[in-house]
Amino acid sequence: HLSVKERIDKKRSAALLGGGQQRIDAQHKKGKLTARERVELLLDPESFVESDMFVEHRCSDFGMEQDRNKFAGDSVVTGHGRINGRLVYVFSQDFTVFGGSLSGAHAQKICKIMDQAMMVGAPVIGLNDSGGARIQEGVESLAGYADIFLRNVMASGVVPQISLIMGPCAGGAVYSPALTDFTFMVKDTSYLFITGPDVVKSVTNEDVTQEELGGAKTHTTVSGVAHRAFEDDVEALLNMREFFNFLPLSNQDPAPIRECHDSSNRLVHSLDTIVPFETTKAYDMLDIIHAIVDESDFFEIMPNYAKNIVVGFARMNGRTVGIVGNQPKVASGCLDINSSVKGARFVRFCDAFNIPIITFVDVPGFLPGTAQEYGGIIRHGAKLLYAFAEATVPKITIITRKAYGGAYDVMSSKHLRGDMNYAWPTAEVAVMGAKGAVQIIFRGKENQAEAEAEYVEKFANPFPAAVRGFVDDIIEPATTRKKICRDLEVLASKKQMNPWKKHANIPL
Ligand code: COA
Repeated sequence: HLSVKERIDKKRSAALLGGGQQRIDAQHKKGKLTARERVELLLDPESFVESDMFVEHRCSDFGMEQDRNKFAGDSVVTGHGRINGRLVYVFSQDFTVFGGSLSGAHAQKICKIMDQAMMVGAPVIGLNDSGGARIQEGVESLAGYADIFLRNVMASGVVPQISLIMGPCAGGAVYSPALTDFTFMVKDTSYLFITGPDVVKSVTNEDVTQEELGGAKTHTTVSGVAHRAFEDDVEALLNMREFFNFLPLSNQDPAPIRECHDSSNRLVHSLDTIVPFETTKAYDMLDIIHAIVDESDFFEIMPNYAKNIVVGFARMNGRTVGIVGNQPKVASGCLDINSSVKGARFVRFCDAFNIPIITFVDVPGFLPGTAQEYGGIIRHGAKLLYAFAEATVPKITIITRKAYGGAYDVMSSKHLRGDMNYAWPTAEVAVMGAKGAVQIIFRGKENQAEAEAEYVEKFANPFPAAVRGFVDDIIEPATTRKKICRDLEVLASKKQMNPWKKHANIPL
């Protein structure tokens, strides 16, 4: 007969072992860490405070009520801890207990920490590794998902929510990660899909592997469902720590300021010659970004999806900023459906969490063609326009070269309440390129070359925008970092409100 103290100790040690050593070994054999090992790596040493270690599932069908089918803590480890000293709530699904499947109790544990995270104002990181709904529990499990979804939606824009997919995530389970701000994946061992390859085969007769259907490569290059993929659990978790350092704890909290050893007055002379003389020649916008931000430290979001736009986090004089840039290297940096949606979602995250936005513009316009028009470029392009327009955080824009047509307006222009808009001497702000313009307005006229030269002289330079005050200044590229750092300091106290509304109606 055990004393209460002994029973407590026994339960605690049982909880630490999850589904038992055999299943832990199987997890390791797949190249995966266990739920607890992941939490340990993610958080500062000894900072994890666990809750609900004694919670058990309440199912009594299919023999589930028997002791051998009860596991202390059930199939998820939950609690809070610190990343570089800053508070974070975590849940980590334990694949060794019923394949990490979601029971009512499992869902309740997650909801409990989400509720507390919202009340105290701290981010939630979910480590997903689950066979989906606990099949033995039926609707109890489905209810659990919905309880989590509702909290994901309520927490959206209140505290940052991050999902790391480290194993299976299928069926209804995918919608929690989809509702969070960022979804990251581990290569080869994780997948996300609504229905697996067998169901796909029976419904659409397509032959597709699990990896092709929902692996990290698919979601970071084709579907845009995931924001980045990492080689293995360890790399993924260490990257989450880096990523977390950029984020504010909540919408009430300023982003952390990191001690900066990179002078805010640093001149970047390489930028003076970075834009090629020929306007059709490409260059890499990432070179500009790396040269300008603190210590070249840029955490890119969706680096392999819609590469004609670059988005990610960096710091300027120690403060977190969101960077958006057209990428002349890919499709001349034009805007299309995917890049508009990618940019819009990023801009909205920054705005929701008070992160200033720096926009680098070199955009020849929106991508023409039936594929784009039929795909709805009008409503998708509108998302990016909408996002920049509604954003009230400090907005600084640098036109490095082309800013053509409607895309000029979209890319955080002065007209959309840009706070500081700069042009480099190489900037051309116009309705379109000189060749196209001349073909239209001087159709059939001889001497097209002369007309083109005249158009270039008139419009292919920063003056038309500058004389109207549509850019605040024409600056030497080398001074860009210095100017941005100075502006951010001034704009730190910016306050701007949008009119009251229940919520806005962004084109979806
Ligand atoms: N409910 C209850 N138990 C589940 C489960 C679920 N949804 N998914 C997995 N498990 C259990 C398995 O019975 C197995 O138990 P055991 O260790 O006692 O044998 C354990 O979790 C591991 O599952 P297993 O199938 O051996 O692992 P795997 O790596 O070969 O496959 C999956 C993983 C997720 C592909 C597979 O388990 C699966 O298809 N699960 C069902 C997915 C599903 O349809 N979910 C419901 C819809 S949301």
